[in-house]
Amino acid sequence: MGKGTEGVRPLVAGNWKMNGLKAALGEAAAVQEALAGLQGAIAADVMIAPPATLLMAMAHASGAELLQFAGQDCHAKASGAHTGDISAEMLKDAGASAVIVGHSERRTDHGERDADVLAKALAAHRAGLCAIVCIGETRNERESGQTLAIVARQLAGSLPPGATAANTVIAYEPVWAIGTGLTPTLDDVAEVHDLIRRDLEARFGGEGARMRILYGGSVKPDNAKALMSVPHVNGALIGGASLKASDFIAIVRAYEG
Ligand code: 13P
Repeated sequence: MGKGTEGVRPLVAGNWKMNGLKAALGEAAAVQEALAGLQGAIAADVMIAPPATLLMAMAHASGAELLQFAGQDCHAKASGAHTGDISAEMLKDAGASAVIVGHSERRTDHGERDADVLAKALAAHRAGLCAIVCIGETRNERESGQTLAIVARQLAGSLPPGATAANTVIAYEPVWAIGTGLTPTLDDVAEVHDLIRRDLEARFGGEGARMRILYGGSVKPDNAKALMSVPHVNGALIGGASLKASDFIAIVRAYEG
């Protein structure tokens, strides 16, 4: 177990979103090289969720064993007539060990609701992938004092029965903090992560106590250490700053120890 809060081994995951042509494989290789140079000093799992077009090449590159890989979304079904969609089984086959589900950009751009997210998390479990389930309030919801109610509702509605510490990770990403350079105060992060931990324990017992809860939203090299030291923050989900190996590694090094 790593050095994260509560003895839970943290996870630092980069979500590349719709970014990266094949030239960007060099960034993943640079991350692998940097991790190799750190010789096991990082007490955290490190993961990249590239666009699906790069997943297989990235996962099968030499040195890839230092990194884990994830898809950014999956269909609820294993196969079938669903043009343009990708199943959890396909992601697994391409080398992923996890898949992000319910990212706020999916919820906004594609109208995904909690029930859809739950179905996708179930699909991830069926395929043997870890589901990284994203939740988080909008700016309006925060300003009207609804943050805790929204997060609790999304958590209850998006997590399938059978979620365990091994097959499920929660990512708390306030929508207003994504890509804006804004972050909640450390006290605000602590309040939400504490609520999530209590809800997880109430529903899943010991598994809920060990499930990793990531923070996401404008995590950068200069704020990572402070955010990662908040109780019940067991790692980060990083967008923009994960696209450059040097920034991503600087964030990963919050767990150097
Ligand atoms: P940024 O780190 O760019 O704010 O994005 C966060 C995010 O949405 C990760 O999933």
